[in-house]
Amino acid sequence: MTVTVINHLPELRKWRKNKLLSEQVVGLVPTMGAIHQGHLNLIHTATKQSQAIVVSIFVNPSQFAPHEDFDKYPRTIQNDVAAINSSFPNHEIVVFAPSVNTMYPRGISLDRSKQVGAFVEVIGLSEQLEGVTRPHFFRGVSTVVTKLLNSVEPDIVYFGQKDIQQCIVIQALVQDLLINVKMVVVPTTRDETDGLALSSRNVYLTPEQRQRAPAFYRGMKLATELFESGEKRREKLLECITKEIEKEGASNFVVDYMCLSDSSTLEEINVVGDSGAILSCAWKMGNTRLIDNVLLGFS
Ligand code: PAJ
Repeated sequence: MTVTVINHLPELRKWRKNKLLSEQVVGLVPTMGAIHQGHLNLIHTATKQSQAIVVSIFVNPSQFAPHEDFDKYPRTIQNDVAAINSSFPNHEIVVFAPSVNTMYPRGISLDRSKQVGAFVEVIGLSEQLEGVTRPHFFRGVSTVVTKLLNSVEPDIVYFGQKDIQQCIVIQALVQDLLINVKMVVVPTTRDETDGLALSSRNVYLTPEQRQRAPAFYRGMKLATELFESGEKRREKLLECITKEIEKEGASNFVVDYMCLSDSSTLEEINVVGDSGAILSCAWKMGNTRLIDNVLLGFS
């Protein structure tokens, strides 16, 4: 089987109708492209549970602020299709690559004050963590994911733990808007040698920045070990990360946040409770912003 690329909604809906008639389970993996092993692992998980899979590739303007990297974001659709094709030769996979016009029939400006039309907001969860520095971000993500769910009508939708807040926001969206889809969260894929979480934005890093970047994950791993040995206090857990950053030269990083958060409200907590917690970080190296997280106390 080869990957089929669909650019237009009527064709996608016709394909979907056939899957419904043949009672096949349809999975959706939303992406912005620049496909890497992290994305491929999401698709791999989907192949175990879904008979037909749609991988959407769409660099969504509304989740970028005017000063962010929308123009520069890597667009490598031909390589992406080839990578999916060669990784999953035995599965039926559709790459849905719509135009901006298809997804935003009224057009879309990166400038929020110029945006018109319908948008989806998950109030509360969207303002924490990433939402502090990127106040526009989750409205854009929630809106485009709603559009993708309405376009594909999947039985299952797959997201990566790497963007844990995105998973939590979308889970709330699905629940609150009564969307009939099951959500699966796939563990973070990391570089095999140094543990850096794979990301399409890693290509922006200089060789030196790339070498230093795993300090955060090293710190989070040490914090996980400390937690597993019984430490539950925020200060002590965060200290593991701070020490690793200092070893690597603190001036090489601009820390945006390092937070211990409740996993349902995302509010900052001082002690990990019985329901577990999320330890998450965001930082900049030069102009590149990276994020990562680990889960503490989840069974
Ligand atoms: P993108 O950054 O392309 O990521 C697509 C999906 O891949 C997301 O669910 C993300 O969490 C997951 N992913 C990325 N890197 C990963 C890694 N190292 N390990 C595991 N999963 C990883 O996230 C987006 O696109 C967009 O916000 C989107 C949901 C498509 C809406 O535009």
